[in-house]
Amino acid sequence: MKALSYKAPSDSETIKTEVVCPNDTNPMGILQGGRLVEWMDIAAAVCAQTHAEKICVTACINRVDFSAAAKVGDIITISARITRAFKTSMEIFVFAFAKTVMDGKNYLISEAYFIFVALDEYGKTTPVIGVAPVTAAEKKQFNAALVRKKKMFS
Ligand SMILES: CC(C)(COP(=O)(O)OP(=O)(O)OC[C@H]1O[C@@H](n2cnc3c(N)ncnc32)[C@H](O)[C@@H]1OP(=O)(O)O)[C@@H](O)C(=O)NCCC(=O)NCCS
Repeated sequence: MKALSYKAPSDSETIKTEVVCPNDTNPMGILQGGRLVEWMDIAAAVCAQTHAEKICVTACINRVDFSAAAKVGDIITISARITRAFKTSMEIFVFAFAKTVMDGKNYLISEAYFIFVALDEYGKTTPVIGVAPVTAAEKKQFNAALVRKKKMFS
């Protein structure tokens, strides 16, 4: 069977949920940024590896925004979606929502762009399958990813 050369972003969409526990927080009872980024990195890695069907490593986190705080007991839902694959690297957009259990309020707490690079069995960088965006939002992210990559290396 011929290997696929393109996959849709929805093929590797990854959702990860966590509950904020006391040892995830700072002395104010607020979720630590580093712990949230660790969870986001795991979701992004699963997404990249599902897309590439290869072992992938984090090359960089382009930008992380923390727009609101989460507290002990909140349910965190992290979504990771590939925006674009280049030659051996992929950009993964990750966003996280916090849900307050008692009132069900669900709000955005963080957004970030991760770059993952695929490795072969010898640990060398290796080409990845392309991304075929389907929706208007996916096409917008696909085009914007190239602009972000060019900006990163300009
Ligand atoms: C990421 C890594 C594999 C890149 O290796 P490298 O020999 O520099 O690879 P190259 O220069 O050939 O670049 C490979 C691709 O990665 C991209 N890349 C490399 N470093 C990058 C960076 N800092 N930011 C964004 N993209 C990067 C390149 O643009 C290139 O993309 P393309 O092939 O899609 O055009 C290597 O630096 C590495 O192993 N880093 C450690 C990864 C790791 O341990 N992560 C966990 C951190 S705790």
